[in-house]
Amino acid sequence: MARARTVFVCQQCGAQFAKWLGRCQECGAWETVVEESVAPRPATGGGGGFGGARTSVAIAAQRAAKPRALSAVTSESHARIRTGLEELDRVLGGGIVPGSVTLLGGDPGIGKSTIGLQVLAELAKGGLTALYVSGEESPEQVKLRADRLSCNESVLILPETCVEEIIGHVAATDPGIVLIDSIQTMHSRELTSAAGSVGQVRECAAALVAQAKSTGKPMLLIGHVTKEGTIAGPRVLEHVVDTVLHFEGDQGGGLRLLRAVKNRFGPTNEVGVFEMGERGLEDVANPSAVLLAERPKGASGSAVLPTIEGTRPLLVEVQALCTRSALAMPRRTTLGLDANRVAVLTAIVDKRAGLKLFEHDLFVSVAGGIRVQEPAADLAIIAAIGSSASDTPLPEGLTLFGEVGLAGEVRAVRHAETRLREAHKLGFTRAVVPAATARQVRAPDGLDVQGVATVLELWTALFGGRRRAAAAASRQHDDAGDAF
Ligand code: TYD
Ligand code: MG
Repeated sequence: MARARTVFVCQQCGAQFAKWLGRCQECGAWETVVEESVAPRPATGGGGGFGGARTSVAIAAQRAAKPRALSAVTSESHARIRTGLEELDRVLGGGIVPGSVTLLGGDPGIGKSTIGLQVLAELAKGGLTALYVSGEESPEQVKLRADRLSCNESVLILPETCVEEIIGHVAATDPGIVLIDSIQTMHSRELTSAAGSVGQVRECAAALVAQAKSTGKPMLLIGHVTKEGTIAGPRVLEHVVDTVLHFEGDQGGGLRLLRAVKNRFGPTNEVGVFEMGERGLEDVANPSAVLLAERPKGASGSAVLPTIEGTRPLLVEVQALCTRSALAMPRRTTLGLDANRVAVLTAIVDKRAGLKLFEHDLFVSVAGGIRVQEPAADLAIIAAIGSSASDTPLPEGLTLFGEVGLAGEVRAVRHAETRLREAHKLGFTRAVVPAATARQVRAPDGLDVQGVATVLELWTALFGGRRRAAAAASRQHDDAGDAF
């Protein structure tokens, strides 16, 4: 393949240079200059430079050249390829769309290669030719994993990192699906920069996307999340691909969440739940039960929150630990929750319920490696903190949700009935919710729903009010010097 000319382009101002510069001479920005190829590619090559987007646009343009009324467009349902992994299909919106490119991102060791191989093996079982391009592991290593998963061995393996070679092999073998593990290890001969650099990652992805679009065969790209938490640096790939999936979870625990961050062919924010077991990733049909399985009985500082992940309810345990601090500036540590939110809630309980925590370290976390971002977690966080501070376990079978405002008012949140149904399904008998929700909602039989309008009302319901709480505080101080 003829060698293309490369230039170095500043991503901020667009200035071009003949060599790489740490700082753009035009706009003065640091580390914004990236290598790009500018020569037109041969037919097999695909896009160049900014080409990912341009090439796919060009191909789309070839297919539908004439403008027509939107009403005349029939929304033909894409014939999706079901992967056999229920949770993955759910996240994708029903399966893989032919010709689509899916980016699968996540921390190292989270299970990206595992799920990739499982998908290929399932599809190979259904008679599809599946090609696994490995830039990280040798065929022997991939085979070891395949043995562990006891999966179909008709998957084709190609240890290769040169994108031009890969494109040639794909054209020759014409597989039904291609997996690239990982995009950061790929390099294009047309660029001189190292594999994994922004220019290389973008160039390789653009070329692969172009091939997927022109052949109509789907492609999965595995991408590592960088230290900044983005895939392959400054989100260089997310606009080039059709779907971006994020794999998250606690490496220690077995549960993994697969989240659609972007999806051109289905819902975003849908979540699939897997468990990493001895034989790879398995669908988890009832994640709430798994998340609550190890919940301590009768321990203080534990509250159960019905949270919503995408469109599905998930019962998670919010834990708080409040201890006397030896530090002038007590520690505030959170895991799986927004630290600023917890700080605001601590100030609210101080002001509205008289819980003084300025001499206490406070640790608040969500068990099971789940991240909860929604304000509906406020009531559960406050209940967990109050429970630990007063060393009073919350009643068995209690669950809480609701947003709390700075004035101490409790506000309604969305999906109240879904949350209550999930709590009821898992045997919860009592729910403390915002007063407005309690008035409107149709609670399942056997679930006692109690509305609270303020933090003080919550406090009274759970810990017997401000005065009782203050008394508990001083008692705790005198006794063990433990909490409150
Ligand atoms: P892997 O798919 O290699 O992660 P990634 O490609 O995202 O870096 O999976 C890594 C972890 O998964 C590793 O710690 C071993 C574990 N694992 C299992 O627990 N069970 C299994 O069946 C397999 C294949 C892996
Ligand atoms: Mg891997």
